Amino acid sequence: MHFMRVRQFATVELASLYVASLIEFIISSHEHPVLGLATGSTPIPLYERLVNFHRQGQTFDHVTTINLDEYVGLGANHPNSYNYFMHKHLFNHIDINPAQVHIPNGMAPNMDEECRRFDRVIESFPIDVQILGIGRNGHIGFNEPGQLLTAKTHVTPLAPETLNANARFFKSRTKLPTHAITMGIKSILSAKAIILIAFGDEKAEAVYRSLFGPITTEVPATILQTHKNVTYVLDKQAAKYLPSAVSL
Ligand code: F6R
Repeated sequence: MHFMRVRQFATVELASLYVASLIEFIISSHEHPVLGLATGSTPIPLYERLVNFHRQGQTFDHVTTINLDEYVGLGANHPNSYNYFMHKHLFNHIDINPAQVHIPNGMAPNMDEECRRFDRVIESFPIDVQILGIGRNGHIGFNEPGQLLTAKTHVTPLAPETLNANARFFKSRTKLPTHAITMGIKSILSAKAIILIAFGDEKAEAVYRSLFGPITTEVPATILQTHKNVTYVLDKQAAKYLPSAVSL
């Protein structure tokens, strides 16, 4: 097991400012920085901070981004798609070149081909820092608990807990996508640095197990214990089961 950094903050705002500052340092010190990005509620305040940095003069015109995942069956114009989410919260407000934005296409006519295409994108643009959220069940990206974890980009059924957690964003349960296309575990681990962000009580158990539990496919985030450069950024609630020496 490698050393994993844990940084705990009193508020979501401070934690998000910390991550935004780490990202700002990377994009201002690399010629061609590549950011791996996540969606969901957790990184919204981070994207707000990045938009603010842009308003204060930080350019994103040299940045490449690669998103973790997308719902199968939702197009870029669907308000629940991750493509739509990323534009709404970040891309529409910064000067990033649209050709340098990479998000899996949930509407691709051939999903196998789309998975291979996305793998080629990840191989061509090695990720400098991958932002991750974590599911209550320990998923990262949409690598759900199970007997096997998949190395590369693949289509996966969403776990019942994930469907329940995501139902809040959809008008009707029948409209909820049942599958997603997601980066695989090996691609996530190939990022040079990983920042996992978790906020709130409901993430506390998954955070504890992923840092201290045995490495198991039943808690996919435990695989991060094998990576050399991982930082967990938490609020107090998500850190509540951690020994105090770790979480200070
Ligand atoms: C999103 C993703 C997911 C989320 C996770 C937590 O791109 O890959 O793994 O990070 O489900 O979601 P929130 O932040 O909504 O609690």
